[in-house]
Amino acid sequence: MILLVDFGSQTAHLIARRLKTLGANVAIVTPEEAFEKAKALSPQGIVFSGGPQSVYAEGAPTVDKEIFTLNIPILAICYGFQLVAYLLGGKVIGEKREYGPATLHMTNSQWPIAKNIPNDSTVWMSHGDAIEELPEGYAVIGTTEHVPYAFAKDEKKKITGILFHPEVEHTQYGKELLQNFLDACGVIPENVKIDIEKIVDEIQVLVKDAYVIGAISGGVDSTVAGALTAKAIGDHFVPMYVENGLMRETNRKHVKAIFEHFGIKAAIVDCEEEMLKRLKGLDDPEEKRKAIGKFYIDIFEGEMEKYIKAGKDIRFLMQGTIYSDVIESKGTKHADKIKSHHNVGGLPEKMKLRLLEPVREYYKDEVRQIGALLGLPKDFISKQPFPGPGYGVRIRGEVTKERLAKEKHADRILLEELEKADVLQKVFISFPVMTGANSVAVKGDGRFFGEVIALRIVESQDVMTATWARIPYEVLQRISSRIVNEVIGISRVVYDISTKPPATMEWE
Ligand code: XMP
Repeated sequence: MILLVDFGSQTAHLIARRLKTLGANVAIVTPEEAFEKAKALSPQGIVFSGGPQSVYAEGAPTVDKEIFTLNIPILAICYGFQLVAYLLGGKVIGEKREYGPATLHMTNSQWPIAKNIPNDSTVWMSHGDAIEELPEGYAVIGTTEHVPYAFAKDEKKKITGILFHPEVEHTQYGKELLQNFLDACGVIPENVKIDIEKIVDEIQVLVKDAYVIGAISGGVDSTVAGALTAKAIGDHFVPMYVENGLMRETNRKHVKAIFEHFGIKAAIVDCEEEMLKRLKGLDDPEEKRKAIGKFYIDIFEGEMEKYIKAGKDIRFLMQGTIYSDVIESKGTKHADKIKSHHNVGGLPEKMKLRLLEPVREYYKDEVRQIGALLGLPKDFISKQPFPGPGYGVRIRGEVTKERLAKEKHADRILLEELEKADVLQKVFISFPVMTGANSVAVKGDGRFFGEVIALRIVESQDVMTATWARIPYEVLQRISSRIVNEVIGISRVVYDISTKPPATMEWE
């Protein structure tokens, strides 16, 4: 068993998942309880996650130094490594930022922890501070252009420190590094696989005889969550689709097909005008998310009353929340809030319904795997993700009817051209952003001052990291020309070439 100390990392759960995939048993604990748990549970190894703080910040999470005397192998990642250095007599310097890809130069490959990690591979960084001086007893294993101590080890104390993130998919040999650590801990792999029956049983135990109203957006997550709920409780599940005008135009048809697949009578609620009214005058992203979240709950509570009057005792609201939504909405003790995913942090404090979130513990690729295990059609589980607040977070600033129409038009063009170029199925997500910035163009010899659209097209598997898609120039050119020519009021198209981290996929 491996003890994972969560210092508030966006990827703590992902580290656990990677270790589990490699056959380890993982228990996640807070820094405050780490030492006591390490004594009580006698883990084979301990992993320190990263975290959003600086070790110098007031109230920064820390561990009881006695944990280093237990002689259990420790893998300290990012903040975890900085904390080890800080607590054991090294020196951490602030303001030494590095986000995104870096090249790991191996200076010392003979240690078992460096097995199968070739020189100059790509690692993914996301740190604000770095280590200037290592504590005594450390050997340097790897460096990057910006940090001298990216990878180091104290063989005697069995502590390995790394500033990069082995858990994210874009670190080329992250899996090898984690495997080396598990080998050093003597972990013998257990066969782990997703247990559908267990998830279904858990839904039945929680819901008992009650009814569940379910928000189906047409996206993979809510479709899979809905399929699990339908499997667990049959027609005690009341699936519903809210057409608030912020969804893709083709979505309604897609959702109808999903409902047909469930074989359960579903409801479609139309409320586009009311949604726009509630968004009027709002330009702060968090306020927009909250307004959309609140509206969505109001609709469900209203619908629920109707069903209750008809004799159906609805006590739960099912949502397709997945783990990356939870963590970005500050789902763990020391994590920073990135934004309120409308189905997590955006929920009103007092709700009449309890939440049922069958895929809350899983990542996107796992959710797709669950969908495949349930036998859902490929079309249902290979669909591009689309955020719950929809176009509401793809229009910077106020969402008006006119800007929404432009966003939809540009999105239609983007989808068509990516499909034609056979790129659509190969990227994780693609969308235009109404940036709210204006620029000058010359249209038909006349000056024209219109809005700039940014294209965001990224590749990712687990959502936590992403790179911008290398779309052929001629495809980008066609998309740009069509948007500027066909979408009224658009002056210019730019391509977003930011990696995640630091940039998130969505702009808001
Ligand atoms: P970010 O922008 O966080 O996007 O890198 C990661 C994934 O999450 C989706 N996303 C959201 N989904 N409510 C949602 O239901 C939200 O507020 C939200 N914000 C981002 C995004 O589309 C991508 O798939």
